[in-house]
Amino acid sequence: MAVQLEFDNDFAFITLNRPEALNALNFQTLKDIGLALDHIEASSARAVFFKGAGDKAFCAGADISELRGRTAIEELDGSLLGQSLFNRIENFKVPSLALVQGYALGGGCELALACTFRIGTDKARFGLPEVKLGLVPGYGGTQRLPRLIGPAKALEIMMTGRMVDAHEALQIGLINRIFPSNLVEASIEFAQGFSKFSLTTTRLIREAVRRGMDSSLNQGLRIEADLSTITYRSFDGQEGLSAFSEKRPPVFKDR
Ligand code: CAA
Repeated sequence: MAVQLEFDNDFAFITLNRPEALNALNFQTLKDIGLALDHIEASSARAVFFKGAGDKAFCAGADISELRGRTAIEELDGSLLGQSLFNRIENFKVPSLALVQGYALGGGCELALACTFRIGTDKARFGLPEVKLGLVPGYGGTQRLPRLIGPAKALEIMMTGRMVDAHEALQIGLINRIFPSNLVEASIEFAQGFSKFSLTTTRLIREAVRRGMDSSLNQGLRIEADLSTITYRSFDGQEGLSAFSEKRPPVFKDR
């Protein structure tokens, strides 16, 4: 299998498993990620972690060997396939984390950008080097990178194709944390910081931010008011307010 799916307590782990090709995303890998997400959707996992097999790469991008000799419509379909998968990850019912050791390039960087959080070792290296192939990034990079770090830095990274090391990535907001060792264990601890709260609430927070990024301030504020109103009416919203008044810990039920 091009990907491995494992469950550990509250969490699901998708490992891109083509280390001989630096975990490059061939079309089979994209399909297998989709199947793994189907399983996770039907499970009780509270977050999904993406990682790469081996220690050299998270993912070196789209599989370049599959990119040649396609018709224009096949190229368009290929791009739309990657985009729709990454949109699914961004909108997924549980938050996602990209655990990056080594290279996260091209489609691999775009996969990380679609995740809720990005965590790196100090050897993580990010980039959108498509310009060196005479190509424009096609799995969301031109849209998500500027939304995350601003257009000037994003343009610099895409137009030079240069790599960004972990410390620069942290400085420009491309990653949330660097964990030099025990990446998985430290990332699980990071995830427990949000997975203990209501999945319904954190899902609506993610939705408010995501939809707000595509909106004017006034539209975004209305989105916030609507989603906030839903949480007041939710079981977990009522429980959180009651628990505070009763000076006890809340018992959230994800509804
Ligand atoms: N697709 C297919 N195979 C890849 C690959 C990719 N994206 N990246 C690396 N590999 C393969 C190499 O061909 C090599 O295979 P062989 O041993 O069979 O020759 C193996 O992985 C190891 O790679 P290298 O020998 O090149 O390792 P290195 O340490 O010398 O260099 C690297 C590492 C800098 C990451 C280099 O492999 C590289 O530049 N890879 C391509 C990165 C890239 O351009 N990514 C963008 C792809 S296009 C894209 O992603 C479009 C999009 O927006 C969706």
